[in-house]
Amino acid sequence: PVTTTPVPAPAFVPADRPRRLRRTPALRRLVAETRLDPADLVLPMFVKEGLTEPLPISAMPGVAQHSRDSLRRAAAEAVTAGVGGLMLFGIPTVRDAVGSQATEPDGILNAALRDLRSDLGDSTVLMADLCLDEFTDHGHCGVLTPSGAVDNDATLVRYQQMGVAQAAAGADLVGTSGMMDGQVAAVRAALDAENHLDTGVFAYAAKYASAFYGPFREAVDSALQGDRRTYQQDPANRREAAREVALDVAEGADLVMVKPAMSYLDIVRDVANDPTVNVPLAAYQISGEYSMIEGAADRGWIDRDRAILESLTSIRRAGAQIVLTYWATEVAGWLRA
Ligand code: PBG
Repeated sequence: PVTTTPVPAPAFVPADRPRRLRRTPALRRLVAETRLDPADLVLPMFVKEGLTEPLPISAMPGVAQHSRDSLRRAAAEAVTAGVGGLMLFGIPTVRDAVGSQATEPDGILNAALRDLRSDLGDSTVLMADLCLDEFTDHGHCGVLTPSGAVDNDATLVRYQQMGVAQAAAGADLVGTSGMMDGQVAAVRAALDAENHLDTGVFAYAAKYASAFYGPFREAVDSALQGDRRTYQQDPANRREAAREVALDVAEGADLVMVKPAMSYLDIVRDVANDPTVNVPLAAYQISGEYSMIEGAADRGWIDRDRAILESLTSIRRAGAQIVLTYWATEVAGWLRA
């Protein structure tokens, strides 16, 4: 026979009872220290030259490479849902060693920026990834030396041209994501020289060489062989992030970002606590973070919607004011419901 252990009358009575504030949903809502707001969410979007309809990205269930038309529709939907902004990535048909399509006024990314600016006016914040990796035939974020190394200073010239092209196409903010030294100062100077004084620099300031970018490779049809460890940061390093952020702020960054988010929440907290960083702080919940949750939820291992909200809340709680997330439109819809 199974015996049931008798529970004696309590002999110890706790004085402090934090559970009081957790008893009802209303109490929990009242005392919540962190809230999510659609305006804090930025939706990264992919637009691919030559598509006539969206092409699903298999490694990112629910995310697609857009045609120019489907991008316009999805962007309008995101704005209606209340998201704070859009971050565009372009995938050209033709790639070459210097990423020529990145600076062509009619290149896919610049054309898409013009489309969205004309559709949406100033109703949202339009941002563009300022990096060459989607545009180069070798897939690196910069141009290469004859021996195949990424040439920092030659790359800055291309970033300057790219930033000016994006500003002319209507970007409010250009997202310097290539991790070249001096890129923020270089792009800022070029924008100023071309009288794009109101175009801001959204600096991917602390960006790590992460395995979690994996699904993004499919999202942009990446040509990369190898890795980006000679320019993106080593995941082992924390103090180095402070240096990278300080440099970007000194070089004129209008906002700074930490990327990826979830494996780097200590870095997010460090930057948030740093009194010398007086610009808005964002974090990018990248492709692999998205796909891990979608994948586990698809197998029934976790509750998808709760996991999404918990992940976003944790990034905000760590100190990021703005969060880039592929769930931006969907979550904005939940928050407004
Ligand atoms: C560079 C860039 C990358 C991402 C955003 N900008 C790729 C990389 O640095 O390897 C990754 C975003 C994601 O994984 O969701 N163009």
